[in-house]
Amino acid sequence: MKKGLFITLEGGEGAGKSTQMAFVQHRLQDRLQAVGKNLQVTREPGGTALGEQIRELLLDHRQTVMNSDTELLLMFAARAQHLAELICPTLAAGDWVLCDRFTDATYAYQGGGRGIALNRIAALEDWVQGELRPDLTLLLDLPVEVGMARAGERGELDRFEREQQAFFERVRQTYRERAVAEPGRYRIIDAAQDIEQVQAQIDIALTPLLAELTS
Ligand SMILES: Nc1ncnc2c1ncn2[C@@H]1O[C@H](COP(=O)(O)OP(=O)(O)OP(=O)(O)O)[C@@H](O)[C@H]1O
Ligand SMILES: [Mg+2]
Repeated sequence: MKKGLFITLEGGEGAGKSTQMAFVQHRLQDRLQAVGKNLQVTREPGGTALGEQIRELLLDHRQTVMNSDTELLLMFAARAQHLAELICPTLAAGDWVLCDRFTDATYAYQGGGRGIALNRIAALEDWVQGELRPDLTLLLDLPVEVGMARAGERGELDRFEREQQAFFERVRQTYRERAVAEPGRYRIIDAAQDIEQVQAQIDIALTPLLAELTS
């Protein structure tokens, strides 16, 4: 039984997800602790020992012949482990989970990017997650070239980072369509702004959750 809250950060390459994970953690941790709850911070693909091994396979740029269905199923294999081992037990205990990427990234990258039909992804989502969906998803949205310029400064590119601009335009578009279609769950954050301005937008998105916590 789910009792805690599940928050995810999404967005393309270099959008600032990892940067803002630390900010969200900082914002939530003390407030949660004050009411006896913990915050579990994690990421996808990965989040468990097995999931991190699957992540290595997925990101390894030497995997040049990976079929897109294989990629999709590996994403959900890692997710099944993540849910069973970490996410579901944490939420069941009433604690909160903050995750760097989740199933929206699968829709965006394997759906939008690779062109796998979204209803096939939805079938896997229902199978692996049952009814579990994030309570809040912060979509860090920015022009592809801005994110690529930021991410490009980090050295060797992983298997996804080697894709072409058109791939990332489809990723961005898919993320945005999902966010617009379900405004109750998503907040679109303008991630092209500087770090402090992005944080201010995230603060506004978190305020109702924190208010609920103390009410
Ligand atoms: N708002 C911002 N303005 C300018 N630079 C930023 C901003 N946010 C993050 N950065 C910088 O951009 C780079 C990429 O940020 P970060 O690693 O947080 O992105 P990410 O979304 O986690 O990327 P990836 O999808 O590759 O994991 C880092 O060097 C970070 O310091
Ligand atoms: Mg990151």
